[in-house]
Formats: sequence, structure tokens, C-alpha cells
Amino acid sequence: MKINPFANDFGAEITDVDLKDPSSEITERIYQAFLDHQMLVIRDQDLNPLEQVAFTERYGTLEWQENVKYAHPDHDKVLILSNEIRPDGTAVGVVDAGDFWHSDSSHHEEPVKVTVLMSVRTPSKGGATDFCDMYAVYNALPEATKQKISGRYGIHHASKALNPRVKISENRPGAKEFYAKQAQERPTVRQPLVRTHDETGRQALYVSPRFTLGIEDMDDAEAQPLLDELFSYITDEARKYHYRHYYRTGDLVLWDNRCIVHRATGGYARDDIRRLHRTTVVGQRAFYKA
Ligand SMILES: [Fe+2]
Repeated sequence: MKINPFANDFGAEITDVDLKDPSSEITERIYQAFLDHQMLVIRDQDLNPLEQVAFTERYGTLEWQENVKYAHPDHDKVLILSNEIRPDGTAVGVVDAGDFWHSDSSHHEEPVKVTVLMSVRTPSKGGATDFCDMYAVYNALPEATKQKISGRYGIHHASKALNPRVKISENRPGAKEFYAKQAQERPTVRQPLVRTHDETGRQALYVSPRFTLGIEDMDDAEAQPLLDELFSYITDEARKYHYRHYYRTGDLVLWDNRCIVHRATGGYARDDIRRLHRTTVVGQRAFYKA
């Protein structure tokens, strides 16, 4: 197995390994590379949904799947992300999933630690995922901003209907109703603005334009401009802390949601099919330790 780190050690490509039934030594080396580089692109894999589940389970308990409608028929903890529409007009998977910057499931009390995507079909154009290094963003913040946010909590919620910073996709059948229902039924969740990684001990900014709606015990007049300042590092056109991944079929990509935010970039035609299979490992509660 070869590990080729990207620039600044944020992200790495792994080649010459088969993840169908890897040894425990390989599993551990991959996890260490994941902690060191935050995201990994493991080339030339061909895992079916059950094999992907078996691989993902080596790193912890799989997260429950709330979008059961788009689960894979072979395993209910594999979520299909795809723009494919059946002849009857129903979607095969989640269309336009993750189109705004976020950390997976930060709206859960125990958010996702690892996300695994298996690239099954690649469109001829577009379909990339952007990643942003939130250790680097935290380090880049002015001292005064770090002091302002340390020990404070962001308010997170899953529903796009509650968030003026995002739009609901027109391409996803039933999305408006889905988010309206979610806004009614789901509680808000508080997460530390600065998150101490439970395994590396490093500090990362833990907010996103997609899920962070406000700051606990702070008026919006003060909180919203502060969030805009924090989000500007993520949405910065200079892309100083970023990596954009264009998938090849057979890429297995995994990343650490404790120190990365990501988004789908779209840019493919509706009939140019993209398909990814997603599995996620639930982590522990986020915390901040000075
Ligand atoms: Fe995501």
C-alpha cells in the first residue's frame, strides 16, 4: 500500500491496496493516515454495498439512516447519492446532496466521525466534492476572534427551511415538504464553535453555513456577522485551505468530519449519471478543551 500526501499534508491518495478484506494492519494504517491527513482518496476499489459496510464497520458503529427512501436495497445503512430519475419520476437516490458547506450530521448530538463514499458512476463533467481543512482555518483566525468563540456554542439544525443562507434544490422531488416537516419535528443541537479533536487533540473550527444557524447566548445582531466572518474562511475564493476532488469510478473517499467541512459542487447534466454510495460512522459528542 502506498500513501501519497497532497500539498500541506491535507489529504492523501492511497494506491496498491484492495479493501475487500483488508488485514487489521492495513485497516490500522489507513486509520492513522486518516488522522494524519484528514481525508483519503483510495484508488481502484470495487466494493459492493455489503463490502462497503464491512469496511466502514472496522472504524465504528454505522450511523442510522434518516433518509430511508434513498437507502440501497441491499443494505439500509448505505445511502445512494445520485441524479438518476426513474421513468416514473421518482429519484433513485438523494439528488443534489450536500450542495452547501457542512460537516456531516453536526445537527446530531453525536455527529458523524467518518464519511465513506464509494464512487460507482462518474459523470463525464463536474460532480466534484470540495473539502476545507478546519484545523487550518482555526489556526488562521485572528487571536481576537479565537478568544471570542472559544468555549461558546453554535446552534445547529438540519432543516434548510430554517436557514436563510441556503436554498432548497428544485431538482429534488418533495424537498420543500421534507424540510418543512424536519423544521417542525427536529430539535436544535448545540455544538462547540471550536472543537477539540478527541483523537489528535488538535483544535478545529466547527461551524458551517449549512447547519449553524446562530450562537448560543448571543444576539443575532452580534452572532450573524461573527458567523459570516467565520464562514468567509470556508467560502473564500482564494481557496487557501481547500482541496477539490474530481472522482474516478472506483475511488473510495473518506474524511474526518471533526476537522473538515465539504460540499458537492454539481456542474453535471441531469442525464449524465453520477452515483456514489455513502456510509457513515457515528462519533462521540463534540467538546472543547482549552
Ligand atoms: Fe455531506
